[in-house]
Amino acid sequence: MGAMEQAQFNQRVDAYRERVERVISEFLDDRFGSGTDRSEKLEAAVRYAASSSGKRIRALLAFAAAEALSLAPEMADRPAAAIELLHIYSLVHDDLPAMDDDDLRRGQPTVHRKFDEATAILVGDALLTYAFEMLSEGETDPALRIRWVSQLARAGGAQGMINGQAIDLEGETRELSFDELQGMHRQKSGALIEASINMVATAGEPRFSKCLNGFGHHIGLAFQIRDDILDVEGTTEELGKPQGSDTDNNKSTFVSLLGLDGARNVMHQELAAASAQLDSLEAQGQNAEGLRWIADYIINRSY
Ligand code: IPE
Ligand code: IPE
Ligand code: MG
Ligand code: MG
Ligand code: MG
Repeated sequence: MGAMEQAQFNQRVDAYRERVERVISEFLDDRFGSGTDRSEKLEAAVRYAASSSGKRIRALLAFAAAEALSLAPEMADRPAAAIELLHIYSLVHDDLPAMDDDDLRRGQPTVHRKFDEATAILVGDALLTYAFEMLSEGETDPALRIRWVSQLARAGGAQGMINGQAIDLEGETRELSFDELQGMHRQKSGALIEASINMVATAGEPRFSKCLNGFGHHIGLAFQIRDDILDVEGTTEELGKPQGSDTDNNKSTFVSLLGLDGARNVMHQELAAASAQLDSLEAQGQNAEGLRWIADYIINRSY
C-alpha cells in the first residue's frame, strides 16, 4: 500500500471507529441514564471494559462489508456495535483466572484485576445481553433484526465461539491436531469475525453473500493465526496484553504445532483464499477495497 492509500485508509478507519464508539456510548448512556438502585460498581466496570481502546476490527469489517454491498453505513451500525459488545464480553471472560488468567488487556489491568472476579463475570453477562438488545432495537425491518439475532447467537454460542473456547482449554492438556486446531480457531475467533460480515451481508443482495461468507471464513482463521504469532513475536507493551500467555498456559497454537514459519505459511494461504473471494466480488462489479485493506491490516498488525 502506498503512502497516499495508507493515509486514505487511516481516515476511513478513524471515521468507522468513531461511528461504533458513538453507537456504543449512546447505548450505554441511555441504559445507565435511567433507573434507581443501580450498582455504581457494575456501571463503572461495564464502561471500563467497553471504553475505546480496542481495535474494533469486527466493526470495521461490518462497515467495509456495507461498502462492498453499496449499503449506507447506518445499516451496519447495530451489527458493528453488537458484535463488539459480545466480543468484549468474550475477552473479559477469557482473561479470568479460570481461563487464561491474564492481568493486562488493551494496555490496562483486566476487569477482574481492576475490580474483582465476580464483577468481571457480571460485566461479561451484561455485555453479552446488551449485544442482543442492541440488535433487537432500531429502525430496520423486524425480519432482518430477527435474522441478525439468530446469526449472532449462533456465532457466539456453544456451536461457535464458546465451543472454540472449550476446545482451547482442552488444548492445554493435550496437543491438538492440525484439523482440531483449525476448527478451534474458526470457532473461538473466526465465528465472530464471520458474523460481523455475514450479518451485514444479510441486509444486502443475496447474490453477494457467498463471496462475503467465504472471505470471512478465511480471514477469520488468518486473524487468529496472527494472534498466535504475536503471542510469541510481540512485546507486552505493544500488544497491551501479556506476551507469552499461550506458552505459559501450555496452549496448542499454530506456532506450537507448526513453528513460526509454518504458522505464517498457513496464514498467507488463508489470506490468499480470502482475497480470491474478493476478486469474485469485484468481478461482479462491487467495491471490495475496504475489505482488502482490512485483510492486509489483519495479517500485518503488530497488536
Ligand atoms: C483479541 O481480539 C481476541 C482474539 C479473538 C484473538 P482483538 O485483537 O480483536 O482485540 P481488541 O478488540 O482489538 O482488543
Ligand atoms: C481468545 O483467544 C478468543 C476469545 C474468544 C476471546 P485468545 O485467548 O488467544 O485471545 P487473547 O490473546 O487473550 O486476546
Ligand atoms: Mg484464550
Ligand atoms: Mg487469552
Ligand atoms: Mg491470543
